Amino acid sequence: MKNKLKRGQYVGRIGGQRSFGVGHRVMTIEFEGEAGSVLGGAVPGQFVQVACRDMDISRVGDPLLRRPFSIAGVRVEPGNFGEVTCLDLVYRVVGPGTRWLERRRVGDLVDVIGPLGNGFTLPEDGKAILLGGGIGFPPMFFLADELSRRGVQKVAFAGTRTVSHIEGSLKPAAIDSADVLEPTMALEEFVRSQTACVITTDDGSCGYGGSIVAALGEFLVRNPDWGDAVLYACGPDGMLKALAGFAAEKGMACQVCMEAYMACGIGVCQSCVVTVKEGTAQKYKMVCANGPVFDAARVVWGS
Ligand SMILES: Cc1cc2nc3c(=O)[nH]c(=O)nc-3n(C[C@H](O)[C@H](O)[C@H](O)COP(=O)(O)OP(=O)(O)OC[C@H]3O[C@@H](n4cnc5c(N)ncnc54)[C@H](O)[C@@H]3O)c2cc1C
Ligand code: FES
Repeated sequence: MKNKLKRGQYVGRIGGQRSFGVGHRVMTIEFEGEAGSVLGGAVPGQFVQVACRDMDISRVGDPLLRRPFSIAGVRVEPGNFGEVTCLDLVYRVVGPGTRWLERRRVGDLVDVIGPLGNGFTLPEDGKAILLGGGIGFPPMFFLADELSRRGVQKVAFAGTRTVSHIEGSLKPAAIDSADVLEPTMALEEFVRSQTACVITTDDGSCGYGGSIVAALGEFLVRNPDWGDAVLYACGPDGMLKALAGFAAEKGMACQVCMEAYMACGIGVCQSCVVTVKEGTAQKYKMVCANGPVFDAARVVWGS
């Protein structure tokens, strides 16, 4: 059985790295022994804190603080000396930490702490709609894997500014589709869990041209049988806020995986607070330790 509370600091080896799209990468880190079994117990929504610097020498410019990344998938594969746990990350290159990751090659070592955070509450049955916007796809890929294992009916929405950001993972089905609101096997990382997906782009360069929440609205008009699904989402605050409003209006349950500026990642420094409603009161919660997944109806948006 998976143990959500177990975590540790572990060194893994880069097993592979490829382009997900322009300025976006997919990296696999391999772990053995205890590291493999603890990280193999991660649940969708959890993240790792990665030390984005060389382990033996400290170079000027490499970040001192670890960087948080959602777990995009976990699987066990046979290795030369026993089983290896492969942990996938998908990241956008934005600064020194992610540039350091981009320079890693197969066989290089990476130090991570994890798995951290709470993870999504998973339905035993029913339906699930997964929405990933911007660099919010990674936890959705992992969630789709887990929902497949549980036999939950699901469909995904992947929203991006422009198609080049996802072109490394885009399948021909997405480009050939005549109906932009018809979910297809559009993204490599969703294909492994047989999750059909609607692509949305802000500039209309692929799929539905417009916001992911607008696409969801039109999809539900066409497919009212999905109206009782649970919404799971990760993406920029603006998207999550709009989705929370949409879910409240439609009476749909919605869980959001939030991002915040983090330092420690383990509930000590209080740099990642979000305001959450508890009954009639409002309380500060830490995204790293109390989240990153919250009930969208309880988040005080814009705080
Ligand atoms: C729980 C969690 C999960 C995350 N998962 C992923 C993931 O799967 N893939 C991914 O690419 N990124 C993810 N992020 C964001 C990622 O941690 C940052 O992009 C990363 O720390 C940037 O490090 P850097 O040194 O490259 O850039 P920095 O120099 O630290 O930042 C570069 C730019 O990105 C902005 N930025 C950095 N962190 C954040 C943040 N948390 N929220 C909003 N803006 C930020 C900064 O304002 C700055 O403009 C996640 C963040 C959190 C909190
Ligand atoms: S990052 Fe330190 S408390 Fe959340």
